[in-house]
Amino acid sequence: MSIKIIGTGSYLPEKVMTNFDLEKMVETSDEWIRTRTGIESRHLASQEQAASDLAFEAASRALTMAKTAADELDVIVVATVTPDHFFPSTGCILQRKLGAHKAFCFDLEAACSGLLYSMETAKSLLAANPRYRKALIVGAEKLSSITDWSDRNTCVLFGDGASALVLAKDDEPESEGSICSIQLHSDGNYAEILQIPAGGSRKPVSEETLAGREHFIRMAGRDVFKLAVNGMLSAGKDVMAEAGVEAESLRWMISHQANSRIINAVADRLALPEEKVFINLDHCGNTSSASIGICLDELNRSGRLSKGDYILVTAFGGGLTWGAALLRWQQQQF
Ligand code: COA
Repeated sequence: MSIKIIGTGSYLPEKVMTNFDLEKMVETSDEWIRTRTGIESRHLASQEQAASDLAFEAASRALTMAKTAADELDVIVVATVTPDHFFPSTGCILQRKLGAHKAFCFDLEAACSGLLYSMETAKSLLAANPRYRKALIVGAEKLSSITDWSDRNTCVLFGDGASALVLAKDDEPESEGSICSIQLHSDGNYAEILQIPAGGSRKPVSEETLAGREHFIRMAGRDVFKLAVNGMLSAGKDVMAEAGVEAESLRWMISHQANSRIINAVADRLALPEEKVFINLDHCGNTSSASIGICLDELNRSGRLSKGDYILVTAFGGGLTWGAALLRWQQQQF
């Protein structure tokens, strides 16, 4: 028995905001943003679009590629820090939009590590229960709705988007799965360095919290930077060691797209050449839980993934949460 990724999908909203647009909003420059982060532009959802709308587009594309009807799905996991509502879950709203009436659905909150956490969750569910055959995992974010557009420390970093993967169980005893190894980690001691201070039960909405702009992302950028490099590096090494795969055998490294300097620091320490390091944050920015799946889908649809390729995936995010997965691509070239 094995678990395979049989479809990928992603969606970026139409509207594009460039660094030059941001120059008109806060005291920043295209040069600063490009050199400090690698970002040149990001996509922004329209006022009418919520996370589930972005999720629907990405999920539909993944299901089409997987030749899977929505009512074949047994489970839907939506990773998001920008759900349509506190409840019902965005997973349930997505279920209605897709017509996936058989699936049980829930949201998973692990910030930017959300898709990796969802992968481990869905893989474990499929492996554990003989009744479950197919799962949809989605990372969907409308980060523009929790971005403080007057804070230059954060507003230049984020973008909106969604991605989705379809996972299926193959009962063949000799079949090879797509997920060789996953390791996930959390450390709540760092909860404050990346957070939204108000709006939850700790600090419900009040005039004071609104005036203090406490419903937006707050971040200690330099602290996050160091922890991100160390966390992704050690998790990356661990999954490769567990699978017995050396860094030279990797076809790609896909890291959470937060900052090209973070990604390159991890790649340098693994002695990976530039051509094996996938970066698309120049046109996406940081899309949190959506970012890794957007990368996978971009690579897949442009024919740059072949059966048998080893792909190292690493992620980190608020919580703190971090982790890595070693994938072995099982789809024939798309
Ligand atoms: N435009 C111009 N200047 C800016 C700026 C902007 N958009 N944002 C910050 N600055 C300024 C700072 O105020 C600071 O000025 P000061 O020295 O006068 O105080 C200066 O630039 C350098 O700030 P610093 O924090 O040292 O920059 P940095 O090299 O660490 O880069 C980040 C800042 C945020 C890009 C970087 O720390 C980072 O990417 N951290 C990780 C963030 C992340 O990944 N978050 C998401 C996690 S999922």
